[in-house]
Amino acid sequence: MMVQADLHSRRQSPVRITEVCPRDGLQHEPEFIPTTRKIALINALSRTGVVEIEAGSFVSPAAVPQLADSDEVFRAIERASGVIYSALVPNERGLERARAAAVDKIAVFTAASDSFTQRNINATVLGSLARFKPIVTAAKRDRMAVRAYLSTVVCCPYEGRVAPAHVRDVMKRLLDLDVDDISLGETIGTASPSDIRALLDTVLPHVELARLSLHFHDTYGMAVANALTAWWDYGITAFDCSAGGLGGCPSAPGASGNVATEDLVFALKASGANVPVDELLVVACVRQLGEAVRHPLNSRLSQVLQLQNLVPAQKR
Ligand code: HMG
Ligand code: MG
Repeated sequence: MMVQADLHSRRQSPVRITEVCPRDGLQHEPEFIPTTRKIALINALSRTGVVEIEAGSFVSPAAVPQLADSDEVFRAIERASGVIYSALVPNERGLERARAAAVDKIAVFTAASDSFTQRNINATVLGSLARFKPIVTAAKRDRMAVRAYLSTVVCCPYEGRVAPAHVRDVMKRLLDLDVDDISLGETIGTASPSDIRALLDTVLPHVELARLSLHFHDTYGMAVANALTAWWDYGITAFDCSAGGLGGCPSAPGASGNVATEDLVFALKASGANVPVDELLVVACVRQLGEAVRHPLNSRLSQVLQLQNLVPAQKR
């Protein structure tokens, strides 16, 4: 049982937001977003206070055509000091592309369920870990930081509920690869705060908090509640979010976008958290992305501010 004073001090740590809109947010968009728009989005997000931006994905262009231009995007973005620019890497070929693009950090990705992993990266979970081992070693030798994603941590779209103890076991194997940090993905957005408590009670004894991020999707509108539970009850202060609530995974049909950055930042600040991100600037980024995304956004704050015509101008 955590001592109350420890929990209080953990809650006071600055919240680290990893902005995944340029990757998770856009990867499933049906209409191709022009490369110049992606670059402008990343440049604008760089000025919002987020510490890390997942700016692209070096996966097979056949799997994710929307992000086939990630090499070009990385060449053109203006890198802000203090911001880490990362990209997904599924295999050796992806690592070569990441190296050529001078990414700061790669993210390998697997899941807690075989059916999802097979569809997503054409490997079993164990097969994916074996594939990642040389990639992680080579990336670290080349001074790139490494994140590992572990998806389907509460429910798999093909296998149903996933036991927290199983998530813990796969997570430990990923940590053993010597990745710098791990993001636990609630990929299909069906979890409730009680699911998140059951998961965190099981995994937290096995991972340092400084290495853990949580990645919530918002299909059932529970993502903000889940993140607030993780922050308030466990002192977790690292979250992946996507501006505008965009997002989705080709291997998780029916799942909605990620938790909207602006909504989570607003909710955390309103609850007393220390979040060094300007949610109004995030809303401005979403507006700038504008008509390139031809469907309503899953972001309360963006909708409210746009209705009231209160969106601030972009900072130059
Ligand atoms: P495969 O078919 O087994 O691979 O796919 P392959 O090695 O046989 O290659 C097939 C073709 O892709 C070949 O081209 C390769 O050259 C090419 P062809 O000869 O047919 O013309 N290829 C590549 N091209 C460019 N860059 C590469 C690359 N690799 C192969 N890196 C593979 C295996 C892993 C490549 C494929 O399944 C893949 O790319 N999957 C990625 C799927 C994906 O991006 N899913 C979404 C991200 S995961 C997610 O969203 C969850 C997350 O957000 C967390 C959460 O929410 O839970 C992270
Ligand atoms: Mg995701």
